[in-house]
Amino acid sequence: MKYDFKTVVNRRHTDSVKWNIQDNELPMSIADMDFKTAPEIILAMQEKLKLGAFGYEEAGEDYFNAVSSWYQLEHGANADPTWMIFVTGVVPAISSIIRRISHIGDNVLVQEPVYNIFYNSIENNGRHILSSDLSYHDGKYEINWQDLENKLANPLTTLMLFCNPHNPTGIVWSRSEVERIAALC
Ligand SMILES: Cc1ncc(COP(=O)(O)O)c(C=O)c1O
Repeated sequence: MKYDFKTVVNRRHTDSVKWNIQDNELPMSIADMDFKTAPEIILAMQEKLKLGAFGYEEAGEDYFNAVSSWYQLEHGANADPTWMIFVTGVVPAISSIIRRISHIGDNVLVQEPVYNIFYNSIENNGRHILSSDLSYHDGKYEINWQDLENKLANPLTTLMLFCNPHNPTGIVWSRSEVERIAALC
């Protein structure tokens, strides 16, 4: 299958949240892709449309197997489909995890500056935001390890939202950084 990363799709005046701006403006907000959706996905959607009747559906075995084989292919990781449940997005998953893992009044640790919606998921569930701010030196963001350790050691800090790759800094944390964070948690 050939993928087209050259064609510019004009999404102005299409109800796109990202492109809902004046004609002389460019959107510098949501990280929506402006490429066409992958042809395999468009084909599958066309098949559904052909049926012409839509109702409640659930993700089947092929859905979970696709996720599992992606992990295998991209990361050499064994993600067993029986471990998985369907969620409608990353943010609903984060909110559910916050409710499952922590208690009302607990601290949820983030590394500021970070994706703004993390704050809604924490506050809307009655938890406190505790940031171990990334420090900025010579054009580079870094973890303040002592500060992170202190804040994770607080008994009220029961969860950390670890963003990797980190939005908005763009950092892909190294293996040793991830292992060090895991150990501290
Ligand atoms: C770090 C991060 N998490 C989650 C999301 C949104 O994920 P979803 O739309 O699947 O809820 C974004 C979107 O930019 C993001 O940057």
